Amino acid sequence: MLLPLTNQSTLTHIFIVLFGLEMQQTSHIVWHKHQLTKAERAQQKSQKPCLIWFTGLSGAGKSTLANALELELYRRGHHTYLLDGDNVRHGLTKDLGFSDKDRVENIRRIGEAAKLFVDAGLIVLSAFISPFSDDRKIVRDLFDAGEFVEVFVNTPLAVCEMRDPKGLYKKARSGEIKNFTGIDSDYEPPSHAECTIDTSMAEVEASVAKLITYMQLSGIIK
Ligand code: ADX
Repeated sequence: MLLPLTNQSTLTHIFIVLFGLEMQQTSHIVWHKHQLTKAERAQQKSQKPCLIWFTGLSGAGKSTLANALELELYRRGHHTYLLDGDNVRHGLTKDLGFSDKDRVENIRRIGEAAKLFVDAGLIVLSAFISPFSDDRKIVRDLFDAGEFVEVFVNTPLAVCEMRDPKGLYKKARSGEIKNFTGIDSDYEPPSHAECTIDTSMAEVEASVAKLITYMQLSGIIK
């Protein structure tokens, strides 16, 4: 029986939690407490570390916004790092494809990597489609309250498809690429994102200003 895509992704999650990575051995590994803390590393950099998580369709403008925001933060003297789907998939996650199962593992790894960077005292920006709500929630739960800022890049599919910067939508429509988000793979929009941006309605500069204001009002930056 063919299940709706959302149910398929939920089943994938259950399968992975029950039989997959979560079951691997951590029972004889003891956490080693470091002398230097996240708070001290952050204080040295005069900033509040956090993860600004951009989610949205391919072509929505996640990478463009994340790049522009990182540049603005750098200009303001902040210490940052940017994790981007297309780049990270060249290394850390190059063994993964675009099945539901692989996307779950992709986001799990990125979440853990981002946590390390945040622990190092950095303001981390990430740009991944991250199509499933459960996975984004798992990443959110890795962080302290206020440290995870979800930015929903809510650009309509029609606009993303018209932009088609890499020609991937065209290939997905012709069946050359399978499991393409928004075409034959699901995207579950966030219901409680800290910020929402539609790049078909707002210029990059205005969107960056909106994000900077959010970061100021929430005490992440001055
Ligand atoms: S995610 O779904 O696992 O979060 P991720 O952000 O890492 O995806 O990678 C998305 C990028 O991979 C897209 O911007 C696009 O360039 C490329 N890509 C290649 N195949 C696909 C596909 N089937 N679905 C979505 N993006 C794809």
